[in-house]
Amino acid sequence: MSPVVVLVGPPGSGKSTIAALLAERLQIPHRDTDADVEIGAGKPISDIFVDAGEEAFRSLERAAIVAALTDTGVVLSLGGGAILDPATRADLAGHNVVYLDVSLTEAAKRVGMSVARPLLLGNVRTQLRTLMEARRPLYAEVAKLTVVTDGKTPDVIAAEILEHL
Ligand code: S3P
Repeated sequence: MSPVVVLVGPPGSGKSTIAALLAERLQIPHRDTDADVEIGAGKPISDIFVDAGEEAFRSLERAAIVAALTDTGVVLSLGGGAILDPATRADLAGHNVVYLDVSLTEAAKRVGMSVARPLLLGNVRTQLRTLMEARRPLYAEVAKLTVVTDGKTPDVIAAEILEHL
């Protein structure tokens, strides 16, 4: 009972794009824990942060991850902060986890225009750097495979992952 692959990485690493592409290639569903949280709460994540705070979001996220990790035959993508929870990192040990590594410059470019990421409003680049520096070792800790994404098309990244499945 396990997803075929679990994608982790910071905001702007391309998790959603690559997960959707992998799901298409493998002809299996794409499940995303951010989407599961939003469906469960009946509102966007940005509203959950504003209405209930980050801690409340993290506990909804944790519950969504526990449920999603029992799903078989799916490509699963996790929110960028999922790996902050030691229990989630421990749970990921038994799974086929791929870390989408991205440079600060590239990630900042990708999230710069998004207003749906409440932790990153304000100075996107500065906040993203702090967040990425703190989390890099945590992504690496849970990863079975790390894929450097800078300068690669989604097709190339997906092919690299498929080679390792
Ligand atoms: C977060 C990343 C978001 C979402 C939430 C918190 C984070 O997901 O889960 O806004 O702490 O990095 P993405 O990585 O898909 O942007």
